[in-house]
Amino acid sequence: MNEKVEKALELLQASVMRYRGQPVGTVAAMDPNGAVAENYHDCFVRDFIPSALVFLAYGEFDIVRNFLKVVPDLRKQHNAMLGHEVEPAVLPASFRVLTEAGGDERIQADFGDQAIGRVAPVDAMMWWAILLGTYVRVSGDRSIAELPQVQQTLRGVLELSLKEGYEVFPTLLVPDGSFMIDRRMAVYGHPLEIQALFYGMLHTAVDLLDCVEDCSSLVELATQRMHMLRSYVRMFYWLDPQRLNEIHRYKTEEFGTGSVNMLNIYPESIPSWVVDWLPRKAGYLVGNLGPGRMDFRYFALGNLLAALFGITTSAQTRSLMRLYAQRWDDLVGEVPAKIVYPAVTGKEWSLVTGSDPKNVAWSYHNGGNWPVLLWPLVAVALKAGSDEIAHRVFDQAEQALPRDQWPEYYDGRRGNLLGRRAHLNQIWSVAAWLFAHRLLEDGVGLDFFAFRD
Ligand code: GLC
Repeated sequence: MNEKVEKALELLQASVMRYRGQPVGTVAAMDPNGAVAENYHDCFVRDFIPSALVFLAYGEFDIVRNFLKVVPDLRKQHNAMLGHEVEPAVLPASFRVLTEAGGDERIQADFGDQAIGRVAPVDAMMWWAILLGTYVRVSGDRSIAELPQVQQTLRGVLELSLKEGYEVFPTLLVPDGSFMIDRRMAVYGHPLEIQALFYGMLHTAVDLLDCVEDCSSLVELATQRMHMLRSYVRMFYWLDPQRLNEIHRYKTEEFGTGSVNMLNIYPESIPSWVVDWLPRKAGYLVGNLGPGRMDFRYFALGNLLAALFGITTSAQTRSLMRLYAQRWDDLVGEVPAKIVYPAVTGKEWSLVTGSDPKNVAWSYHNGGNWPVLLWPLVAVALKAGSDEIAHRVFDQAEQALPRDQWPEYYDGRRGNLLGRRAHLNQIWSVAAWLFAHRLLEDGVGLDFFAFRD
């Protein structure tokens, strides 16, 4: 094993969080200068995913199994907080282990009630379900999915996300900052990342829900929604030069069932950057879609997960890889990969972010570069047969990350500056690189997200 991998694995092992002697998760960061943000000692559900992938890829199943069992138990705490009688389905953003006066330990969860900005972690329940599916597939141990608490949670997650609301689309409506971008960034409504996760969760739930107590109508509903969601995202979120031309010539104010411009998108809302930026043979899924609103920004994680989970067609996935190849400086830069392109600036920055100084242009969630994006980028590149891209991004990350002590993010248009407030030894940066290494060098992990059609 090479030395870099060995050191990175040591760091990952050192980040393991234990509860009553058992490994249950990994902390967000182990900054040698002391964690800057207090909750970086927590295990975040979304941050644990790349760690879990590494553990699964090395056959260390226990920690993943424990995590999958511990998280549903925490729902009770939300219950107590809201005074509900029924156990709610939402899962926490993060949790920590506290030692009581008598030496006993207890886990304390944060459902967004303590997080900066009090944001709702909608992605946590999706990720938990998706990881459950991956665990079952990789370990061959289906018994965990049969545990009553796990079945109840799956069912609860499904019921909550399929509950009738004010929806007129198959996509899921969420508030701002409800996923990896957990700050105000105008990502409310129907952000792509949530739709990709929603699709992955539906797939897993349909597969693993045991209808001992009758739940066949729920499964039917989920299956229907899953198919509708995929067609809708494929069709309406997809943007390539041909589609851009159609939107450019859209008729507006159409009424009734036969309208082509169903969402009444005004051609005037097409930003000038996209017209010059989109290469002839490339395409991507737009960041958000709603009435009269198409957010043309490129959001990396949503696009990569959509490709990984099979929402995009294989032709679309190949177009996405051509976008990376032809817009390398913008989407990869010096350290992979850009979280969103382009950044919002000036007056728009102040309106979109609420004048958030951490999210100034080309920093953090507003156009920063995040090493954690390496794993889905390598996975999708390999899936699309773009091995060259996979190797190139990996090599760039290998140059930078150990040298810079695994930062959380980088700043600058080309991601050439260490993030101003980035934590070092950010565990999902370490894990993303380790999993990418396993994918590339050993071909392990390529089938982790192979959903059945
Ligand atoms: C920041 C990120 C969030 C991540 C957390 C812990 O809040 O925005 O996505 O889960 O840090 O790393």
